[in-house]
Amino acid sequence: GEDVVRRERFSGGPARTFLSSLAQDERIFEADLAVDRAHTVMLAEQGIITDDEASEVLGALADVEAAGHGALDGGEDVHAAIETAVIERVGPVGGKMHTARSRNDEVATCIRYRLRADLLDAVEATLAARDALLAVAEAERETLAPGYTHLQPAQPTTVGHWLAAYEGALARDTGRLLDAFDRVNRSPLGGAAFGGTPFDVDRERTAALLGFDGLVENSMDAASARDFLLEATGALATLATHCSGLAEDFVLFANRSLVALDDDYASTSSIMPQKKNPDTLELVRAVAGDAAGDLQAILTSLKGLPRAYNRDLQRVHPHAFDAVDAVLPAVEVTAGAVTTADWNEAALAAAAGEGFATATGVADLLAMGGVPFRTAHELVAAAAERAGDPAAADEQYAAVEAAAGEALDAPLADYVDPDELRRALDPAASVAMRDSRGGPAPEAMDAHLDRAAGALAAD
Ligand code: ARG
Repeated sequence: GEDVVRRERFSGGPARTFLSSLAQDERIFEADLAVDRAHTVMLAEQGIITDDEASEVLGALADVEAAGHGALDGGEDVHAAIETAVIERVGPVGGKMHTARSRNDEVATCIRYRLRADLLDAVEATLAARDALLAVAEAERETLAPGYTHLQPAQPTTVGHWLAAYEGALARDTGRLLDAFDRVNRSPLGGAAFGGTPFDVDRERTAALLGFDGLVENSMDAASARDFLLEATGALATLATHCSGLAEDFVLFANRSLVALDDDYASTSSIMPQKKNPDTLELVRAVAGDAAGDLQAILTSLKGLPRAYNRDLQRVHPHAFDAVDAVLPAVEVTAGAVTTADWNEAALAAAAGEGFATATGVADLLAMGGVPFRTAHELVAAAAERAGDPAAADEQYAAVEAAAGEALDAPLADYVDPDELRRALDPAASVAMRDSRGGPAPEAMDAHLDRAAGALAAD
């Protein structure tokens, strides 16, 4: 019969190993058993096979599950190997299991079934990381930090504000993963090879048995579509990219001893005894590259692929699973490194004021006093040049006064209170001034962290 023909076609030629996906299919072994069960139950309910036949198949499947993926004896893929194992146990009746389906709808269902669970794990990882970031952001909401643009000192900020920025990005990652989940969570089963089936299958029933939230309607689309892999891997790659940015910020801060990683998240040198290196975060940085590569591999494989099923697809979904396996531990390590890090408050406060980083606040103050912002900007730019870097607050103040004498018609004190101007040159006061919604001032941060915690609880 058909089985004999199939087995002969997959009989140990030189391409046998090349063709087989059995090893990589371990990832979908449990999924395939679930799909087999749902399909068998549906076939019996629809009267396509008898209840007795279904019982025999289900009994054999329980046996195959107990023996495990490792006990499967060769085969082109996990679907064929499980069918062979079922037939070995119960005889030809086991071959009824594959009535009204194809490995094309079967494998698509298995991938979606497994990826669903992986995406939920990824969502959990983002929730835990957000929780960790918010906790440290809260604890360090008044800890000064240098804020950079172009990696040049820009404005003083706080460790809390900086970490909450990453929490915001990870919150969107949670949303992207959940969006991807919604479209992954549709059943292709019953689409058969691509062209549907003459049997009276109940696709809604198998979808419900497998916990899917509806169908991939068109049977050709069901067997062929892999855009759900792009969405899932895209969400994972984006998440990994955010972690890599945070990791890089840490590496830069550690380079300047602004933060020290806990020993658990650091490594040393085999020759240089004094070294404490941020290896975990460098690996996090690299994971973003792996995930981007996985996404690119999926895009490249799918580009120009005709409908319906093509065997190329066998090599596509493993990239999504690779991304899951790379990104999830990276998210956990990132959260752990942030939670256990030791912030060097004195060094951070000193760094926060470097490069006349309070200059914007001074210009803002002049603008509040009626000086057109562009004039204030030019005035403070001249003062910064005059004061040089590094410069003490007194020198900066004197430089602003001198520049104001040249740029303004009236005395400086007509525009700003000298005490306020002095305060604006202090990094902590400079941060406190920026209390606009979402800004780093402590009160603004309190409201921001409350909203972020609320959104996290809702996710
Ligand atoms: N192992 C195959 C895959 O992953 C299963 C589908 C095989 N279908 C086929 N027509 N050869 O895509």
